[in-house]
Amino acid sequence: MSQPASRRSRRQFLSAMAKTAAAATLAPGVVQAAGTPFHILKPPAYSPNDNIQFALIGAGGMGNADTSTAVSVPGFKLVAACDLYDGRLNDIKNKYGKDIFTTRDYKEILSRKDIDAVIVATPDHWHQEISIAAMNAGKAVYCEKPMVHDITEGSAVVDAQTRNKVAFQVGSQGMSSLGNEKARELLAAGAIGQLNYAEGFWARNTPGGAWQYDMPADASEKTVDWKRFLKNYPDRPFDPKRFFRWRCYRDYGTGVSGDLFVHLFSSLHYITGSMGPNKIMATGGLRYWKDGRDVPDILLGMFDYPETATHPAFNLSLRVNFVDGTSDSTYLRLVGNEGSLTVEWDKVTLTKNFSYPPENYASILKSRQYTPDYDRKKMNGPDTVVYKAEDGYKGAHYDHFYHWAQGIRNGKPVIEDALFGYRAAAPALLCNDSYFQEKAIKWDPVKLKLIS
Ligand SMILES: NC(=O)c1ccc[n+]([C@@H]2O[C@H](COP(=O)([O-])OP(=O)(O)OC[C@H]3O[C@@H](n4cnc5c(N)ncnc54)[C@H](O)[C@@H]3O)[C@@H](O)[C@H]2O)c1
Repeated sequence: MSQPASRRSRRQFLSAMAKTAAAATLAPGVVQAAGTPFHILKPPAYSPNDNIQFALIGAGGMGNADTSTAVSVPGFKLVAACDLYDGRLNDIKNKYGKDIFTTRDYKEILSRKDIDAVIVATPDHWHQEISIAAMNAGKAVYCEKPMVHDITEGSAVVDAQTRNKVAFQVGSQGMSSLGNEKARELLAAGAIGQLNYAEGFWARNTPGGAWQYDMPADASEKTVDWKRFLKNYPDRPFDPKRFFRWRCYRDYGTGVSGDLFVHLFSSLHYITGSMGPNKIMATGGLRYWKDGRDVPDILLGMFDYPETATHPAFNLSLRVNFVDGTSDSTYLRLVGNEGSLTVEWDKVTLTKNFSYPPENYASILKSRQYTPDYDRKKMNGPDTVVYKAEDGYKGAHYDHFYHWAQGIRNGKPVIEDALFGYRAAAPALLCNDSYFQEKAIKWDPVKLKLIS
């Protein structure tokens, strides 16, 4: 384990090492892809005591996945964990060692000088408070998506990052993927002509997919810090369903939109360079999983994106169906007048199509013929081109943590900072507001303000 040191001296040391590492990685032969400002460079080798020492706050499903990925990136070392259920803290000690410091109180994590960074993987209603407190304590933060629980909470996180100048990254890992990077490059190169529509879909059909997670047999008010979990939301008797299946309740979660749409917004905004929609409309319903939840299991969202310097005006349609007998599938597709891009994290499928101009249809058809008596056909390019990541690609999650590490070590801007994270979360949160308030919502994605 690294020796505890004052935060300032640890930071100076990490920064000095980063400069050496950056010089080494920018050697001739390293290619910077056009239009991809966050190209992944070869990871430098760090000395054994040059770790980014981090703590996990929220040691459930995603917190564990984040930690496994973080420790696979050279130079990350887990030193502490915080959770409100004792079983999760025991699991962390069993997996990472008995010397890991554990607590139920995140403030005990933030006051430790040997911690450089924290992963915030709590339920959504805790993201804002812990992220801001962590940044104010000088820690780098990896906050799971959605960045905030309510539209009113975002600006304070942006301010905290601006004020503290720390590497704060939101956890929509798809944005860091080769697939998103390729789609951004193809769109900018005009591969699908003029973008006019995008769509995304999330289909699930299992209890787990619909958030009915198993609840541990030993869950009780002894093993769970129930009162702390509730935060400032209504007090109520201990309810393991609310604690372990928190996504089903608006007090703690953000519904299917905050859980899933937000990933699609992050990717779409990255690929198009967009700041977000200016009109949001939603409908849906609770059709099947009537287990006491207060959020819909089918949600349809429609979003108007205004023309900006980086893209034309276009429409977006997003759907989540947790009662979907077709298949377990998800996709994000961008459609232009000359084709479409179906975007996955390790694959992009470009489908080309002939484009007819809006006027002069007859004369264009005629111009395709060489002579009046011989309709000589032309050579077509491939209708579909599939771009696939090379074998051995470590994936989006690894890339996202690598980007965060670069931000911590050498101040390189992270790919999904607080401003980006707020712009991705906003339409997802407003989609819920539109559904519950039964009205279209207008939003200024530049000024980050509701338009009344
Ligand atoms: N990026 C992704 O692909 C992805 C995937 C799944 C979940 N997530 C996000 O990760 C977060 C966690 O989701 P999950 O599925 O891991 O939930 P989970 O219920 O499995 O884990 C959450 C953990 O947080 C703990 N917790 C609750 N309040 C806390 C507090 N105040 N301090 C410390 N710990 C606290 C709980 O005890 C629990 O162990 C959510 O915001 C979710 O949206 C992201």
